[in-house]
Amino acid sequence: MRNNKSLLLIILGLIVYSILSSCGKQPAPDTNFGLVIHGGAGTISRDKLTAEQEQNYRAKLEQALRIGYAVLVAGGTSLDAVEKTIVILEDSPLFNAGKGAVFASNGTNELDASIMDGNTLQAGAVSGVKQIKNPIKAARLVMDNSPHVLFYGDGAETFARGQGLEFVDQSYFYTERRWQSLQKAQAKDQQTEPGKHGTVGVVALDKHGNLAAGTSTGGLTNKRFGRIGDSPIIGAGTYADNRTCAVSATGTGEYFMRTVCGYAISAQMEFGGVSLQTAAENVIHNEIGRLGGTGGVIGIDKGGNITIVFNTPGMYRGYMLSDGQPVIKIFAD
Ligand code: GLY
Repeated sequence: MRNNKSLLLIILGLIVYSILSSCGKQPAPDTNFGLVIHGGAGTISRDKLTAEQEQNYRAKLEQALRIGYAVLVAGGTSLDAVEKTIVILEDSPLFNAGKGAVFASNGTNELDASIMDGNTLQAGAVSGVKQIKNPIKAARLVMDNSPHVLFYGDGAETFARGQGLEFVDQSYFYTERRWQSLQKAQAKDQQTEPGKHGTVGVVALDKHGNLAAGTSTGGLTNKRFGRIGDSPIIGAGTYADNRTCAVSATGTGEYFMRTVCGYAISAQMEFGGVSLQTAAENVIHNEIGRLGGTGGVIGIDKGGNITIVFNTPGMYRGYMLSDGQPVIKIFAD
């Protein structure tokens, strides 16, 4: 009788122990997930940035990464992570997008943005907008709430107004630094300061296995007004397909359009079976580089592998994957 009682107690103890230890266990990661961001590529070197400027860039890139990561780690979508991360970069005067957008030749700011869902291949974009505070939000609304992909100028702003987006006066986009860049470029009759591309972009893979990409820019300093670059062009500056990868580009847009940069990377993976890294290197170094274009691209594939490739001295960039460690880099190393 006593033996039976002891046996019962031991069995009960084992049951309680196994319940308690399973409660304390960390759940296995759902899958690979994470995001990669860029804030532009160009002639960025240690001697051109003060310690304070470098710290400001690093802090803003880390803040943006953490916003996107928080969406992903909570089980949110890659689309939401991309949009929310880009909003942080658009609201900063440091980058050539939103608040920090460069000036066109006529002294106005004309902003472009796009976003793409790798799960459905749906996409949205706006181009040549002048008063939408966050063009990436407008791009998302075009994708979600219209049957179209790309709206330009007045039409884009009318659509965005109807969607209740926040509008600002053009003076909101005035920054002394960008104004001086315009004066310098115009004095030299250049379309941009050589090697300066401050476009922002984000690519993400969520826990559900869905990829998304987004890009936002003010374009090139002293661009002819009405000029459209690669950032709002799906397949050029932005592309996402769950079967392959999500990519976002920065650089002299004309070259990224002529080489159809984003789709060229995806197509090499889909039809040629090459890795994301090789495909990105082919496009940046062999195609765009061969034509004389400069810039870079970020990407993430369906397995969570990432790439960052550029042919400029530096690129503002970072990533945060399922290990939760933010990595920020600026210079070539
Ligand atoms: N890559 C940005 C632009 O050329 O407008």
